[in-house]
Amino acid sequence: MREKNTFTIFGGTGDLTFRKLLPALYNMEMTGSNPFDTQIVIIGRRDYTSTAYRELARDWVEKFARLHFREDVYQRMADRIVYYRMDFTKEEAYGELNDFYHEINAGNHIFYFAVAPRFFPVIVQGLKKVEGAQGGKVVLEKPFGESLEAAAALNEKMEAFFSPDHIYRIDHYLGKEMVRNIQTIRFANPIFSNVWDAEHIECIQISALEEVGVETRGGYYDHSGALKDMMQNHLFQILSIVAMEQPRSPAVEDMHREQMKVLAALVMPEDISGSMVLGQYEGYRGEPSVAADSHTETYAAVRLLLDNERWKGMPFYIRTGKKLGKREMQVAIVFKSPSPEAESNILNIRIQPTEGVYLQFNIKRPGETEEIIQAKMDFCQSCSVEHHLNTPEAYERLIGACFKGERSWFSQWDQVGLSWKYVDALKDAYRRNGRPVFSYEQGCSGPKEAEQLLAGYGHSWFDK
Ligand code: BG6
Repeated sequence: MREKNTFTIFGGTGDLTFRKLLPALYNMEMTGSNPFDTQIVIIGRRDYTSTAYRELARDWVEKFARLHFREDVYQRMADRIVYYRMDFTKEEAYGELNDFYHEINAGNHIFYFAVAPRFFPVIVQGLKKVEGAQGGKVVLEKPFGESLEAAAALNEKMEAFFSPDHIYRIDHYLGKEMVRNIQTIRFANPIFSNVWDAEHIECIQISALEEVGVETRGGYYDHSGALKDMMQNHLFQILSIVAMEQPRSPAVEDMHREQMKVLAALVMPEDISGSMVLGQYEGYRGEPSVAADSHTETYAAVRLLLDNERWKGMPFYIRTGKKLGKREMQVAIVFKSPSPEAESNILNIRIQPTEGVYLQFNIKRPGETEEIIQAKMDFCQSCSVEHHLNTPEAYERLIGACFKGERSWFSQWDQVGLSWKYVDALKDAYRRNGRPVFSYEQGCSGPKEAEQLLAGYGHSWFDK
């Protein structure tokens, strides 16, 4: 018989639950990859019966699950969903929650906080009334805090209740197939690993372009902005994986130690105007729940340097933004060109929507000529049907890892703390220098100032 666990989602009627968590649980049901017999407790303030909630959830699962929809599989999962209505911001409501857990014979708790971080403390306080909660695990959705100070205070509260190794800070980019592949592409291939340094590489570009705007999340986003929403977490995680030294072993501690060293080596730019551009798409201020005079950035591009032997002097360019006309996430390694006639070799790790690797190198034009042209090899991993069936989505993979107690692909507090410190300092420097948030048209590739930023160093954004 499978061991039981109880997976409780706070924020069970929110976007994240419908779009990501329930579809992930459905995929796990379909693939049989969950070793536990899991009870799913959905907590929300709205008035649903379990039956009504299951009906509602069906449409979302059907629309967003990676695997095709099968009514019998959904029913199997739905039978294990119970909806529990409560105001989770009221500490006194948790005594009844405890009674409810008794009624349904809950145990082996895993709590998912799919709510804004300001609610974390009250939930933790309330869970003190729930038997067995303290020995359980907790999954925290980003953003973890709103600044270094807030994040540190929050962390202290979380660690005072849950054991630190039972806290899973989710960064769903760490569950993406091609993010997991970066280490293999680099370390398993001497053609790359031997030239992975500032001596051979001209620059490294990490881009996360989004087609969507803020949609229904204006209230949250307007207090966050692109730097805190994407860069502090997802993109700094990728940066630390791309730039780290090879971990001594696959053990989680070894990888985290190397990632930490990268974050600790980040240099604060001396000239912020030559290092950072913030932008806002036209029409953003008219989005629901966004302030009419908002200066929040929906686009950010930064030039970063690392103070260590491997990367000294070589720029990392990182950019992200909304309403950029396409969805594209990639890491481009632009090698130094060997001669004025030859172009740079480019290794482009394509994270999404296409997953694969693009490699550009120099060859001779066919015929009686010595002219150099570029060969462009494009390997699309996600184009195969097999890939689609075998590759779990980020949330599916990370929820599964948490159930099984595998911690490697979650953010650690020290990493989160360091990246907050750096992002806070960047934001502050930008403001103190009186730099504007540049406006850009929806559907373009970002403010022209971000193009000029790279042009100032003789570079340009690689667009594949
Ligand atoms: C989330 C951000 O963490 O990541 C969103 O809060 C963003 O603003 C999203 O849209 C992007 O995720 P993905 O997986 O679609 O690239």
